[in-house]
Amino acid sequence: MNSDSSDLQAFKGSILFFTDDPDQLDAEQAVRYYEKGLLLVEDGIVKAVENFDELSPTLPPDTEVTDYSGQLIIPGFVDTHIHYPQTDIVASYGKQLLDWLENYAFPREGMFSDLTYAEEVAEFFLQELARNGTTTAQVMSTVHEHAADILLQKSLEKNLRMITGKTLMNCNAPEYLLDGPSMGFDSSLKLAEKWHGTGRLSYAVTPRFAVTSTESQLEKAAELFHSRQGLYLHTHLSENLNEIEMIRTLFPWSNDYLDVYERFGLVGPRATFAHAIHLSDSEIDRLAISGSSISFCPTSNLFIGSGLFNLERVTAAGIPVGMATDIGGGTSFSMLKTLAEAYKVLQLQGQSLSALKAFYLATLGGARALGLADQIGSFLPGREADFTVLNVNATPLIERRIAVTQTLEERLFVLMMLGDDRSITQTYIMGKAA
Ligand code: GUN
Ligand code: ZN
Repeated sequence: MNSDSSDLQAFKGSILFFTDDPDQLDAEQAVRYYEKGLLLVEDGIVKAVENFDELSPTLPPDTEVTDYSGQLIIPGFVDTHIHYPQTDIVASYGKQLLDWLENYAFPREGMFSDLTYAEEVAEFFLQELARNGTTTAQVMSTVHEHAADILLQKSLEKNLRMITGKTLMNCNAPEYLLDGPSMGFDSSLKLAEKWHGTGRLSYAVTPRFAVTSTESQLEKAAELFHSRQGLYLHTHLSENLNEIEMIRTLFPWSNDYLDVYERFGLVGPRATFAHAIHLSDSEIDRLAISGSSISFCPTSNLFIGSGLFNLERVTAAGIPVGMATDIGGGTSFSMLKTLAEAYKVLQLQGQSLSALKAFYLATLGGARALGLADQIGSFLPGREADFTVLNVNATPLIERRIAVTQTLEERLFVLMMLGDDRSITQTYIMGKAA
């Protein structure tokens, strides 16, 4: 072990992480669980995870050990699709997608022309992510350059691994939310040059969805997406039946919704499509071949009444899937609550989401969907030490229910069905309390 322990931190507790999809591999191989474990972090990077009794005698004597005995330490949650400017419209009544956008999302996003408001929301948003145990997110912003800029600035100050970009939209939305003649290209390029690869930040080229971009803007978006190593592409796909109908009208030459993105080169590794509920077999095959990812947004898909995402079908095709809260179409920042709704969405289709699979999707699965599995999502040595400490007894009911569980899987299932922000004891960003 390191003879200089000043930058060495140790965290004691029950430790869980995944090295693979527990549904694909023998669960024994995919799941690492240490009932009495020790997570060793050096300079913000995971150095080792082992049984406490084996690892602790090897530590330099003055190593500070933070004791979370009886609690569960897992990699931080990865939210693959969320809108920060929609924080203040979460739980808005009574509309489906296109009316919901018109009545709630667009007017609220218009308020982000005010930098002071954007800054205040960005601060609250990042704190709320941490309070819910989420350490990485792919975030939609607004059309305003400064709204993405302030989120990136704050993420850098907090040393967060975040992915975001300015939203591109230049038609079929209120005038006050439309990109001007440069079609958002100049602002996007400026932001990408300033932030992509700075600290732990990545830039996502973000056409909102094909409905709100002209063909020229989609073309420009693709040009930017392919212009630099590691840029992301973040958009929506096939969420709502009226939206799909609109795509048919707006792009009469297209064979289907995905065809529009494909035609302009807006698919491939590091391209994420949120929702992807109403897909044909051909669209699923093509998404898989392209190496694109999908965000599963259960609370949003239920709340906006969009439909039931078929996880089994998409996973069988080999498309990486990450979990997403999709605030503010989604109704909770909590990944635990999101997993609970995912379970119910799949139940309605005769599919069962095991607790192991659910926690995999919310951690390593999300990291894989974003191409970040070498950086985050597990506690393999060398990974960035973003983690969450879960209180498994956060409420009287959970405590009673946990008391009669026998296995780890049962406890995880109770946690995902009954847990929420109250279950999060502490979130750590590269070994530092958030
Ligand atoms: N499709 C285009 N924009 C949005 C949005 O803001 N939220 C959701 N849920 N779907 C969208
Ligand atoms: Zn969305």
